[in-house]
Amino acid sequence: MRVLVKLGGTLLESSAVKSSLAAQIVRAASEPGVELVVVHGGGKRMTRFLAERGVESRFVNGLRVTDEATLDAVVKVFAGSVNHELVAALQAAGGQAVGLSGIDAGLTEAEQLSPELGAVGRVVRARPELLHLLTANHYIPVVACVAGDSRGNIYNVNADQMAAACAAAFGADRLLFLTDVDGVLDAEKRLQPLLTVGACEALIRDGVAAGGMQAKLESAISALRQGVGEVRIAAGAAPRVIERLLGGADPVGTRLAEAAIQ
Ligand SMILES: Nc1ncnc2c1ncn2[C@@H]1O[C@H](COP(=O)(O)OP(=O)(O)OP(=O)(O)O)[C@@H](O)[C@H]1O
Ligand SMILES: [Mg+2]
Repeated sequence: MRVLVKLGGTLLESSAVKSSLAAQIVRAASEPGVELVVVHGGGKRMTRFLAERGVESRFVNGLRVTDEATLDAVVKVFAGSVNHELVAALQAAGGQAVGLSGIDAGLTEAEQLSPELGAVGRVVRARPELLHLLTANHYIPVVACVAGDSRGNIYNVNADQMAAACAAAFGADRLLFLTDVDGVLDAEKRLQPLLTVGACEALIRDGVAAGGMQAKLESAISALRQGVGEVRIAAGAAPRVIERLLGGADPVGTRLAEAAIQ
């Protein structure tokens, strides 16, 4: 089974949660037949890094406006500190983790999303060979949400979109979004255990799924449409969350399905 785990930035802010997830990832990746890739965000850390340097973060539709100085910080924070600290946690948990960004070996090629957003990219091509090479040899690739292009440009890519693009290219059977809420909540803040694509679109249209959750659901829908078998959204801090998401019993979070009958 091929699994892609996307870790939300907030989870990596707590060292206890980070170590617990690192141990769970190493355990899951060592199961026979499991090939596992990690993609991570780091939005809150990035906002703090910029604020410490007197730069205010600006968002349009949940995407960070990325000028030249912000892009430099994106590389330093996402592909630098956050990525390496996560790799270190996975190593400490006994794994063989390899830190990468989407630039490495042309893993993800992007193009500019819109001039008003600066260097924010949309993944247009993905080459999963490096992921297959690493996972087949029992390494755990850890991908920061930075992409390149054939002319040497670097782009800031929303981490959920990066996860969806990598999951589709990798041929993932499961895409697990681990975040700082229990799953997708309805207007009354009740957890939705199962949502169809149509129901997700309605939650976005009605403004119930907004901000980071809107970005996640849009990425999830795109992953399902590109052939990813199953998408789950759950709290990264929930006990044994990865084992529960990969096993059948003791369900947790929200499961997304293309249609109601599943
Ligand atoms: N309907 C909803 N159900 C659940 N969460 C929602 C909903 N609408 C908006 N949200 C917000 O979405 C947030 C999750 O997205 P967010 O982008 O903040 O985290 P992440 O993607 O896990 O981390 P990162 O962006 O750093 O990778 C929740 O903390 C919540 O505030
Ligand atoms: Mg997010």
